[in-house]
Amino acid sequence: MPRRRRILRWLGGGFLSLWGFGFLWVVAAFLKPPRARESLADRIIRVGPLDSLPVGHAQLVRHGREPIYVVRTGEDRLIGLSAICTHLRCVLTWDGDRRLLQCPCHDGAFDLNGNVLKGPPPGPLRRHRVETRLGEIFVHL
Ligand code: FES
Repeated sequence: MPRRRRILRWLGGGFLSLWGFGFLWVVAAFLKPPRARESLADRIIRVGPLDSLPVGHAQLVRHGREPIYVVRTGEDRLIGLSAICTHLRCVLTWDGDRRLLQCPCHDGAFDLNGNVLKGPPPGPLRRHRVETRLGEIFVHL
């Protein structure tokens, strides 16, 4: 008889343990915030009308923590480059006369392909795809 009682107590404890873990798992799943889904619209930014950006000029597009330069190098040619220096993350400035992106912090410079021209930046700028639709400029993140 005591052996039977021990087995029943052991089975009861096991059942309660399983039920407890299951309950905790359901509570944890309920409390966990849902994963944010990024839509296509969140990954494309409308810059503005193509007519407002003359050839040879650049426009700084502010978005989140990484602003982007859209440079119009020809009638139908647009380039998107990160405006954040790859050295210590200073925001670059556009030098229209020399057609390059200049870093005000340590005198780094990048060409229109994002390659390092001079200074301490360790790598090229991140490129962004730019397209025009119905006379509007859009940049992909
Ligand atoms: S942060 Fe740009 S060169 Fe140092």
